[in-house]
Amino acid sequence: MKTMFWGLALLAITASACGSSEKTADTVTVKDHFKNDFLIGAAIPVNHVNGLDQKADSVVSLHFNSVVAENCMKCEKIHPEADRYFWDDADAFVKYGEERDMAVIGHCLVWHSQLAPWFPYDENGKYVSAEVFKERLRDHIHTIVGRYKGRIHGWDVVNEAIEDDGSYRHTPFYDILGEEFIPLAFQYAHEADPDAELYLNDFSMAIPAKREAYVRIIGELKNRGLRIDGMGMQSHIGIDYPDMEEYEKTIVALGNAGVSVMVTELDMTALPAVNFGANVDDNVNFNENKNPYPDSLPDEVSKEWNDRMASVFRLYKKHSDLISRVTFWGTHDGMSWRNDWPMHGRTDYPLLFDRNYEMKPFMVKELAEEEAEK
Ligand code: GLA
Repeated sequence: MKTMFWGLALLAITASACGSSEKTADTVTVKDHFKNDFLIGAAIPVNHVNGLDQKADSVVSLHFNSVVAENCMKCEKIHPEADRYFWDDADAFVKYGEERDMAVIGHCLVWHSQLAPWFPYDENGKYVSAEVFKERLRDHIHTIVGRYKGRIHGWDVVNEAIEDDGSYRHTPFYDILGEEFIPLAFQYAHEADPDAELYLNDFSMAIPAKREAYVRIIGELKNRGLRIDGMGMQSHIGIDYPDMEEYEKTIVALGNAGVSVMVTELDMTALPAVNFGANVDDNVNFNENKNPYPDSLPDEVSKEWNDRMASVFRLYKKHSDLISRVTFWGTHDGMSWRNDWPMHGRTDYPLLFDRNYEMKPFMVKELAEEEAEK
């Protein structure tokens, strides 16, 4: 009887996972399942917001209660020239989240990558002075955060400021303003929208030196009385990295530092490692051997992937008092950046929904267990 019930529940959940049916009394959505634990988010691209990926829209509308802009709020997109902002896509993104009553996350105000080329330079191609740069930073943050005042739940204010060894990354922000660029960015963001939550965000957060650097920075921001609500652990992970004990230590350390922890860019590659970092600027030439599953994922690899994801979510639930949001970097495997990074043209399987918009088994099972308990 129980087996038959589970079968039916799985069927109902799978159908709703595809977005092909409305939520019914006997189905559970991902967001409802975790409603007492954390928000469930997805990064969404512009084509999705603009109605060109209807199936993804159904999945996101049904299962997620938070969205983050995949690209349209990054400096090169939203502020491509000194005297020109481009709002169409970001406006549509914010409206999309609002219409679905979601926690809308702005991403990201300060990041060296996808920075508009003009931003740090003068007309001679030299870095501008600290004073001019501060003006630019203030204008950039005030204008963007101010435009969406009261409509954005939280902003990734500073993205990827720290190297894996705990030192500051050499970026135009750091090279021109030194360490002050972080407090300044938080100050400007808070001035522009006093009610918005403000976050730091970075990858490879399981690395002890990086963890310690952020705990220190969070303490310094707090000591100065600046608003800092949370720290994002991007979590572009693999089946065999990071070390989950170290990853858990970071969740706890950030919680102890007095901020909420967010998993902000979760995806887990099923492919052989090319390198272990997450620097988006790294790229390697295509190699067939590193693309072993161009058609589908073999059962044993799929099982490994699902088992690992199930244990990752067990960890998140264990620390749900510290974790306020778990966001996937995308919706379905077909649209993930991991198909193209750090090697272009591979076929990867990193997200919660597969290429047919069907929910991955680990989550189907998790939801079915809740159904079974009812
Ligand atoms: C980083 C950034 C994201 C996104 C991902 C991968 O982690 O924070 O905005 O660009 O890389 O695409």
